[in-house]
Amino acid sequence: MELIIDSSNIEQIKELNDLLTITGVTTNPTILTKSGREAMDVVKDLCEVLSEDQLLFIQTVQTSFEGIMEEAKMISSIRNKNMYVKIPVTHEGLRAIKECKKLGIHTLATAIYTADQAFLAAMNGAEYLAPYTNRMCNYGDGVQDVKDLIEMLRVNHMPAKVIAASFKNTYQVHELIKAGIQAVTVPCDVLYQMIDHPGTKIAVGEFSVNWQRAYNRNTFEK
Ligand code: E4P
Repeated sequence: MELIIDSSNIEQIKELNDLLTITGVTTNPTILTKSGREAMDVVKDLCEVLSEDQLLFIQTVQTSFEGIMEEAKMISSIRNKNMYVKIPVTHEGLRAIKECKKLGIHTLATAIYTADQAFLAAMNGAEYLAPYTNRMCNYGDGVQDVKDLIEMLRVNHMPAKVIAASFKNTYQVHELIKAGIQAVTVPCDVLYQMIDHPGTKIAVGEFSVNWQRAYNRNTFEK
């Protein structure tokens, strides 16, 4: 499974990239604006933080077919490899995904609220499909819908990967990993919740105290 960070917070991305096995970083227009900096400056920093083998996903902002295509070409030229253009699954977006496929531009279909939208984007050549898991929960069982999508792709032998997005808690991530999802993109706060547990901190504290009491030092020596 591919673990991707859903953020533009450079410091947290650096830290998590050191701690975990990270395949890449996703952003969207809102995520980039949260940095309070010019978007392209943030994207340049992301390119520096990631190795060439890690994937970077940047979303188009314009909504017309022509606008999406113009930005898709620009975004795909930012890096020599592993640069993916995120395109929302509107009518114009679906057309653009099809066109990008013809031009060899890698795409991720985003802002997906149903398994059907995702499936149609996959048919148009999207390599990644990003269902908005948490937001889908406002309309039904988002986790189950994503599981259905995984199955729809499997039985139809579709090569597109599901990269579940829009997570608000560790339970949603956990359930989809259990279902065999190909990729998840997780915000930093949810990733830290997956890593940290108060019990671990208490256990490590006890080990240190017991060692110190017994040997009057805090190191293991020969
Ligand atoms: C990532 O690709 C998506 O754009 C992101 O996960 C959406 O998350 P949100 O629902 O928190 O905005």
